[in-house]
Amino acid sequence: MSVRKKAESEEQVLHRKLLKLWKRGQSRYCEVRGSEIHGRGVYATGFIPRETPIIEYFGEKIDKAESDRRSLLQQAKARRTGDAAVYIFTLSKRYDIDGNVPWNTARLINHSCNPNCEAWIVGRKIIIHALHDIQAGEELTFDYGFDVDCYEDHPCLCGAANCTGYIVSRQQWAELAQRLQQAVRKEG
Ligand SMILES: C[S@@+](CC[C@H](N)C(=O)[O-])C[C@H]1O[C@@H](n2cnc3c(N)ncnc32)[C@H](O)[C@@H]1O
Ligand SMILES: [Zn+2]
Repeated sequence: MSVRKKAESEEQVLHRKLLKLWKRGQSRYCEVRGSEIHGRGVYATGFIPRETPIIEYFGEKIDKAESDRRSLLQQAKARRTGDAAVYIFTLSKRYDIDGNVPWNTARLINHSCNPNCEAWIVGRKIIIHALHDIQAGEELTFDYGFDVDCYEDHPCLCGAANCTGYIVSRQQWAELAQRLQQAVRKEG
């Protein structure tokens, strides 16, 4: 006996695809809530052991030229509106991920100078992992790794005891300290 499959309507196909994307952006380990650091943030729903893969950071795969173009646009918009700015993530030497899509829950993870998460590239995916044990209710954070050259555009409100005052890659903290000292000397 032959069984004929009923054709899906365009809306059903779209709905199925959106549902798939939405599911990919969810994780049982975390949920979105208002953040004391900035806007919305992502919080642990329960205890998360060290090195657990928590959630995927995903979006549109773009080449470096397109990435530069979008970064400049996002930063200009942020200066104009004060809105959250940068969603571009380095994937490889040739490609970046623009995570500015509504189903990418991980885009809402804020930066901290004392982060509890880290982004690892696993195969062709960016996966947010726990840097150490995380307790239920803790806000998930990672180091955005921003360049020190544009430190003034990104003041940090993470509230960590070791907060540098700016969202700058930990590797450039020494350089940041020098620049801040120079700025104080100029003012004085
Ligand atoms: C990708 S969004 C993160 C989600 C954001 N909280 C929201 O509600 O859209 C990145 C932006 O959040 C803000 N942000 C993240 N971490 C921050 C921090 N530690 N201090 C101040 N602003 C922060 C900055 O505006 C940054 O450009
Ligand atoms: Zn900070």
